[in-house]
Amino acid sequence: MIRTDNISFSYTEYEKTEELGSEDMELVFNAREAALNAYAPYSKFKVGAAVRLESGVIVRGANVENAVFPAGICAERSALSNSITNHTKDKPIALAIASMTEDGLTEDFPSPCGSCRQVIAEEESRTGNKIKIILSGKNKTIIVNGISSLLPLQFNRKNLRIGLP
Ligand code: THU
Repeated sequence: MIRTDNISFSYTEYEKTEELGSEDMELVFNAREAALNAYAPYSKFKVGAAVRLESGVIVRGANVENAVFPAGICAERSALSNSITNHTKDKPIALAIASMTEDGLTEDFPSPCGSCRQVIAEEESRTGNKIKIILSGKNKTIIVNGISSLLPLQFNRKNLRIGLP
């Protein structure tokens, strides 16, 4: 039997950052501040990420580039590596991302690359919690609830069928 199926996802769009709830707005401001600390001399595209943990702690990350291009790391993976290392048992509940060029904040919201999507998926399956993802541009922000919206039909630890810690 052949069946055609359909996967869709919903997101909420905000025209102004001020329309976000106060916690999400705070997270976006943290991501913007983190972007200021990015090391992006090659692309000149600075990205900041901020992870909110269950305890309320906010952990930041930024993209850190390298003369050997593949050695660079994106803001999202930088933030999650930081939170996993320093707050192992405190689960991420939200992740905000913002980006800037030499002209300031980008109009378009940044969207995580494929590798970062995979890492966010891993963190959701490690903790068993969905992560609210806040993609923030200068005048447009969208929020999706969980990585499955951005990474459907994902490969994750369940596919490996091995004993997990
Ligand atoms: N980048 C991020 O840090 N996060 C994203 O969501 C998109 C891209 C970085 C990688 C690289 O340093 C620069 O932006 C240009 O691709």
